[in-house]
Amino acid sequence: MSPKPIRKAVFPVAGLGTRFLPATKVVPKELLPVVDRPLIQYAVDEAREAGIEQMIFVTGRGKTGIVEHFDIAFELEQTMSERGKDLSVLDPTRATPGDVIAVRQQVPLGLGHAIWCARAIVGDEPFAIFLPDELMVAKQGGTGCMKQMVDAYGQLGGNLISVLEVPLEQVSSYGVIAPGETRGALTEVKGLVEKPPVAEAPSNKIVSGRYILQPEVMRVLENQGKGAGGEIQLTDAMAKMIGTQPFHAVTFDGNRYDCGSKVGFVEATLAIALSRPDMGADVRAIALDLLK
Ligand code: UTP
Repeated sequence: MSPKPIRKAVFPVAGLGTRFLPATKVVPKELLPVVDRPLIQYAVDEAREAGIEQMIFVTGRGKTGIVEHFDIAFELEQTMSERGKDLSVLDPTRATPGDVIAVRQQVPLGLGHAIWCARAIVGDEPFAIFLPDELMVAKQGGTGCMKQMVDAYGQLGGNLISVLEVPLEQVSSYGVIAPGETRGALTEVKGLVEKPPVAEAPSNKIVSGRYILQPEVMRVLENQGKGAGGEIQLTDAMAKMIGTQPFHAVTFDGNRYDCGSKVGFVEATLAIALSRPDMGADVRAIALDLLK
């Protein structure tokens, strides 16, 4: 029997974005543009490519602009039409009525708590999670990270997380897996630990911002105490599910940019600008000139 399809995605976007202050004092981190699309747009496009229909945003104070981005800007569209401007630039922001849902996390108590805030909308279905500040870019002609995960889920069911390898000295900033058997891009997950000291890290494979989880995780989160950094951690709740349900990691065949950090954000901007047919050649010439 094939597993229940993934129709819902949760986007936790209630964090404070302190690493990007003062830019994020008023503008949510998820609305910072990489070239001409806000970060949240890349994540929603990736979800749609994977066949996901419902987008559930876990927002907080000052974050309503994220939901409005997927609404119709009536005056803007009317004025653009009157001036004969091309409205198709707004196509990525169109959403099926009823399929954009916002729930509130009143206090940012941690990623695990943010996900738990979506429990009533997720209900009794498996669901995807996207951390939009991790920008996952498909290889040319390839598929996005969540599509690769949904394809693996179709064979394996259970829970899946995307992972990537980093130099061992960097692992203490991330969730890290204890790997079991590896076959191609798939690794069995035997354990998970959030922000371990380097000496205690079970591997250099870090969890990288995309998840497919079974709804039982909500019940684990309900009783989940604070973990690393004093926050309610999703990693700790997932760790408790290992052994009770299948748990696998998928190594994404593509590029990942950590847009939660300033250097990662600049890297993503350069990489995407260089790959764009409408501007790549100009940006390359400018970059080479600056490097002289
Ligand atoms: P981050 O660790 O990147 O935190 O959260 P942040 O607040 O966005 O940014 P910094 O570290 O202060 O610069 C990872 C993801 O989890 C969400 C964030 O919005 C981000 O998408 N998050 C985190 C919540 O929604 N609620 C929380 O309580 C914590």
